[in-house]
Amino acid sequence: MSAQTPRSYLEPLIVRGRISKPQPTGLPVVNLGFNELPYGPTPKVAAALEATMPRSFAYGGPYCDALRDGLAAANGLDAGDIICGNGSEELLDVIARNYAREGDEILISAYGYIQFEMCARRQGATIVKAPEADFMTDVDALLTAVTPRTKLLFLANPNNPTGTVLPLSEMARLADSLPGHIMLVLDLAYGEFVDAGYCPAIHHLAKGRANVIVTRTFSKAYGLAGLRVGWAHAPRDVLPGLYAARGMGSVNAMAQAAAEAALQDMDVVNARVAEVVSERERLSGVLAQRGLRVLPSATNFLMLTTGDAARTEALVVHLFDDAGLVVARTREAGLEDWMRFSVGTPAQNDLLLESVARFLER
Ligand SMILES: Cc1ncc(COP(=O)(O)O)c(C=O)c1O
Repeated sequence: MSAQTPRSYLEPLIVRGRISKPQPTGLPVVNLGFNELPYGPTPKVAAALEATMPRSFAYGGPYCDALRDGLAAANGLDAGDIICGNGSEELLDVIARNYAREGDEILISAYGYIQFEMCARRQGATIVKAPEADFMTDVDALLTAVTPRTKLLFLANPNNPTGTVLPLSEMARLADSLPGHIMLVLDLAYGEFVDAGYCPAIHHLAKGRANVIVTRTFSKAYGLAGLRVGWAHAPRDVLPGLYAARGMGSVNAMAQAAAEAALQDMDVVNARVAEVVSERERLSGVLAQRGLRVLPSATNFLMLTTGDAARTEALVVHLFDDAGLVVARTREAGLEDWMRFSVGTPAQNDLLLESVARFLER
């Protein structure tokens, strides 16, 4: 690890290391470390993948026209205001490349999504972190941290790794109060897990504003993380710059077909989201009853602490050794006592609860 590489950047690699190790007692390894959905493709997605496979020699359309039409129809937007990317991660990076250079500042919330910091680093831009109030983004702190050099404000809402969400009124206050020269990027990777009205309300908030971009993904609620499809709703004059910085073949043909099909399978997608939300509440209730602190989450994952860094570390190791469960140990400054794990299937969640109980009894 180089002197300038904080350990938190290596967290995905550390989790991957555990996934690729055999579980000591031979149990199947279940990865709850990446905030993925625990279900396979929906029926229409599976059929679309199969139907596209024989044409694997053909490029996908560079502008994802059919997918943008589907997204526009599903979200009450104009397809001309949408760009798709190789996961929303690519779009976040493309946005940073368009708006920040060395010497510029990118503003985030203290425990904001780690990739925002990576985007800033790739540009040589300075990351500025506004303090949070009890693991919740603080709009006043963000506004106070604005300087003439601030070019971008990245805000994941709900946030990863904390899982907390700002109410719409606070999002509106932020958009209204932020100086117009700063591009506000609202990352809704987990927006579907808040409630059915949240994403539409954020798109509505962004409409007509020249300095707000909303990013979404098929990786979480739609369970297509491995296919890499994200999208952004952006002011129309911003889009040419984003296309110019994005690869032409960035969303492959099978990924486009799968995402289009997922939009036709919303009953299944919504039922899965509802199950995750109900399981999330069950898990957080039981874990809190057992004396662990669990942050209120509006996502498909939970962040919890035993109250002590060494004990949390021991729990992370125990879950793997005892039940084959891989969870993410948060290592960002201020989060050393915490761990984060995805909500799994009901059976996986039972496994986690039983293993936690054994840990607490030992
Ligand atoms: C807050 C947030 N934004 C964006 C992403 C990137 O997702 P993807 O590139 O799979 O769309 C993630 C992934 O974990 C995330 O947690």
